[in-house]
Formats: sequence, structure tokens, C-alpha cells
Amino acid sequence: MRLDKFLCDALGATRKEATKLIKSGDVMVNGTTLKSGAHKLTDACVVEWQNRELTLHGPKYIMLFKPDGYVCSHEDGFNPTAFVLLDEVKMESLHFAGRLDADTTGLVLITDDGKWSHRITSPKHKCEKTYRVWLADPIQDDYVTKFKQGIELRNERDLTLPAKLEVITENEVLLTIVEGKYHQVKRMFAALGNKVEGLHRERVGAIELDPDLELGEYRYLTEEEVDSVWK
Ligand code: URA
Repeated sequence: MRLDKFLCDALGATRKEATKLIKSGDVMVNGTTLKSGAHKLTDACVVEWQNRELTLHGPKYIMLFKPDGYVCSHEDGFNPTAFVLLDEVKMESLHFAGRLDADTTGLVLITDDGKWSHRITSPKHKCEKTYRVWLADPIQDDYVTKFKQGIELRNERDLTLPAKLEVITENEVLLTIVEGKYHQVKRMFAALGNKVEGLHRERVGAIELDPDLELGEYRYLTEEEVDSVWK
């Protein structure tokens, strides 16, 4: 992470304020005064401002607009991990609060707070996830009812829990599910003889993908977004 970004996060300063602090000569890294905000910090760096050691406080909660071609795990030998899109210190403490397939785009939540992510991923809490789905074949009249009643997936004993399907066009739908089984959305449509051609997550619980984020960008969650998970 760059020194100026670190100061923004640690002090709640704007980038302009952080640059001013650095230029004033009050910021030291490992005992040396630095004058460039672009200086790259490693986890081992000790940053001081006015002789006070600065740390990044509290747990982190991040929303990422995941592009196609990144995995929500460690690199799989083919696709890079979505972690490479983050510029954070202490990356090793972060984890994904629910995964998307490499070819799925959209909202991914990342945190170092295990209790918080458990609330999202634990089947017990039935956290809603909304996906925009583009299909190879037109939807059939009975789809809405079938998703509501539950669908029999290959290699699964139980039907899927009731899901809500909103029809946008005959090949595009919004699907809200409360589970997170492996490739669930693709398997649900496959069970009906259709094929998912594009998949994009728009919402997790009450947290919606910020329309101001560009593909591959991220931001910290607001306090309200973080707290919404507990409600
Ligand atoms: N369901 C899928 O099939 N893939 C995803 O990435 C998410 C949900």
C-alpha cells in the first residue's frame, strides 16, 4: 500500500491532506522522514506521524466489483486471485465472504472479520443474494413457480430452498436465492434444461453493488452497510 493511502486510512485524512502531512516532514517510515506519498509500504514498515506510531484500526469491510477471469480463492494456476485487485496492507488476514465463479462478475465482499462473514455465508442465516442471469434459451412459463417450489439439483438429496425469479426479458432474469451451493445458479438452470451464459451478482443481503464502482474497483463499506448484516 502507498504511504499516502495508508495515512488516509489510519487518520481518516483526504489524499490532499495526507500529501500535505508528508510534505511537512512529520511522517517517518522505519525512522526515516519520507517526502513521497507514492512510497510503497510493506507489512513490516512502522509508520510514525509526529512521533506517534500509526496503525490501521478496526476490522476491514470491502466491496469489490469483480471482473470476469478472477477467482475468489488463491490462484488456481489459470486465473489470478481477485486479491490482486486490492491495495491493502496485511492482505493475509483478509478473506472472501462468499465466492463467485471465475466467470461471474459483480459484488464480492471481503473482510478480516470472521464472525461477520459467517453471518453472510452460514446456511442457517439464509442471507439473500441477487443475481442477474443471461440465459441461452428463453425462460419457460413454469420457471417462476419451479424456482419458488425448489429445484432438484444433480447429486443433491434436498430440493433448493424457495427462490424468487423476476423476469426482465425472455433471456434475462433476476434471481434471488438464500443458499450458496457450489455453482448453484448455473446448476438450477441446468436442471431445467437451460444454460447460464452470463452471471452477475448485484446484491448480498442489504448490500448492493455500488454503481459508482468500475469493474475491478473496490471501496470500504459504510457503517450502515456493515451493520445491515446483523439485522
Ligand atoms: N452461482 C453460480 O453458479 N455461480 C456463481 O458464481 C454464483 C452463484
